[in-house]
Amino acid sequence: MRLQFRPGIVLSCMALAVLAGCAHRRPAVAMEPTPVAHIVPLPGALQAAPGVLRISSAVAVEDAGAAPMARRALDELLAALHIASADAGTPLRLQRVDDPALGEEGYRLLVDDAIHLSARTDAGLLHAVQTLRQLLPARAGTDYRLPRLAITDVPAYRWRGLSLDVARSFLPVDYLERHIDRMALFKLNRLHLHLTDDQGWRIEIKRYPRLVEIGGASAVQGGRAGYYTQAQLRHLVAYAQARGVTLVPEIDMPGHVQAALASYNALACDDVANRGTYAGVEVGFSVLCLDKPEVVYPFVRDVLEEVAAIFPSNEIHIGGDEIRHPLYADFVARTAAMVDAMGRTPVVWEEGSVAAMKPTALVQLWNDGYAIEAAVARGHRLILSPCSYLYIDHGNRAGQPGADWCRAEGVPLARVYAFDPTPYRTAVGVEAALWSEFVHTDAAADARLWPRLAAVAEVAWSPATQRGYPGFVRRMAELRAHLDALGVHYYPEPDLGWGDAADTR
Ligand code: ACM
Repeated sequence: MRLQFRPGIVLSCMALAVLAGCAHRRPAVAMEPTPVAHIVPLPGALQAAPGVLRISSAVAVEDAGAAPMARRALDELLAALHIASADAGTPLRLQRVDDPALGEEGYRLLVDDAIHLSARTDAGLLHAVQTLRQLLPARAGTDYRLPRLAITDVPAYRWRGLSLDVARSFLPVDYLERHIDRMALFKLNRLHLHLTDDQGWRIEIKRYPRLVEIGGASAVQGGRAGYYTQAQLRHLVAYAQARGVTLVPEIDMPGHVQAALASYNALACDDVANRGTYAGVEVGFSVLCLDKPEVVYPFVRDVLEEVAAIFPSNEIHIGGDEIRHPLYADFVARTAAMVDAMGRTPVVWEEGSVAAMKPTALVQLWNDGYAIEAAVARGHRLILSPCSYLYIDHGNRAGQPGADWCRAEGVPLARVYAFDPTPYRTAVGVEAALWSEFVHTDAAADARLWPRLAAVAEVAWSPATQRGYPGFVRRMAELRAHLDALGVHYYPEPDLGWGDAADTR
């Protein structure tokens, strides 16, 4: 009989059985305590076997060269733990297998007298390496013990993401690199970059250099200005791709465009008095002049062409939030059609669902109660970002300074974890959002993202029927060392024992 276990619970009990004699029968010979398998996101199926596999100083890696992402991650892991590669070492096999049940990202991990990682794809093998990484210590030691086990693990959703607002306040390239590394550890695979807004324009567009000269030099009050060159973005795309993460660019239109209007005044209607940059936190006041299609649409096309040339992502986000205009639906329809014509799939915030788009366009839900049924009936699939669960610019706890417009009590870890995507039958996945009106430094971003992003990862990856907050808390509490090793300035979450409720950070 194939058993399905909650790893944190079952393996803890096995360890206790050995150490404290809670089993009915004691083993005849003393066995090594079995290390506990703390894995986030929770694997779909984990079968524990007795005992451990010891790795002293070396592994003998066998791979057929068909999994460069996984191999790179494995080599990095071995180097970090000072585990050498040697023919006489513990066998470690990376193998591509033709098993349709594993889909595009599923994998198996078997630890017996060897370590066997198998998947249909490089992405699946990469996830297997990340699971192996969580089973091992975060820092180098002298020898390592792996629990003997068999895992079969397939994600519930193909889109497991985060939207980062780099427009209100800029995040530097090196932060994004570190952030991609952290996402990969938790099998998150979509990093949506909100590249433009009223307060800043962050992507170099060669045909419109003033967008970054003017729009890139502004930011929200107290935030950071800056922009990414196209070379930097291409570097980031490749960096993310090598780690199983797709960068999804967003150019927010036709509203949220004051930085563009300040850079190219002709994009504003002639009666618009305010053509300067903007550092406030209001929304809904700026709009491309939709009454000047001869000006606006060539601009939109030129920008999207350069965006598409930089980002190979199948999806391109065209925004569409928080603006009312008689020509709004027409604009979204025309812009979505442009993206389609470029061979990509448009994504719009929920308001854009009123536009006549091909049913393949994705709609990103952000207000909990938004009436999305009509769009779903027209065939649009959803990215789920309901603000009261997934807007992690909101406090980790009630009263933490920052955004609170969606939920005055903040969006604590337990609340994020409680989000259930399953009623949304056409969802492609789940995406948290970090807006940056009040998040201005790398450390502040870290403290909003972590540990809540780990909960997002579990919501998006693990079967809803198997996961539960107490188990997540136990497993996540143990993974703190991995976040420490990655230099994360996480929020000292009391639920995880990382701080106490009196902490006012
Ligand atoms: C949004 O929060 N305006 C998408």
